[in-house]
Amino acid sequence: MAIFNILKYPEKSLSQPSAKVDVIDDKIKELIKDMGETMFSDAGVGLAAPQIGINKRVMIYDSHAMDPEYDEEPREITALINPEIIASHGSFISEDEGCLSVVDYRANVKRYEKVRVKALSIDGKELEFDAEGVLAIIMQHEIDHLDGILFIDRISSLKRAMYKKKRKKELQKELEKEQ
Ligand code: NI
Repeated sequence: MAIFNILKYPEKSLSQPSAKVDVIDDKIKELIKDMGETMFSDAGVGLAAPQIGINKRVMIYDSHAMDPEYDEEPREITALINPEIIASHGSFISEDEGCLSVVDYRANVKRYEKVRVKALSIDGKELEFDAEGVLAIIMQHEIDHLDGILFIDRISSLKRAMYKKKRKKELQKELEKEQ
């Protein structure tokens, strides 16, 4: 098992669509374990494979993300393979949404209120379930990652331009420090 470096915007793999998983082999299961360790080493409730540079349609989330009081160890993850949103209802504002791949920034994002998700479990079982609240946000946010979309792609172009400018400046500063 290993803790991976979480890639940050504007890393290329974050904006590339991920490929479907054909076979859930030991490599995919190992990837899922590593993603779990990586997520819990940081403060995330969800993580998608492209965030560690692997463009495959695999996502995980904290199984107890719906219950903020839960703090037992070891923490549990749920993995979804080839997840898709097959139906959606309503809309609401996800307040102060953030992402481990988007440094120092949060924003309100318009999301569906409820989504129906189809996916495979780690054992290859076909799953279909409804998600609302925190879980609905996680599903939309992580499935977006698998399509190469970040939450900053879903805010106003003005806000996005401001963030990109700020991030560019920070990266420039880091570069200057290194030299
Ligand atoms: Ni994210």
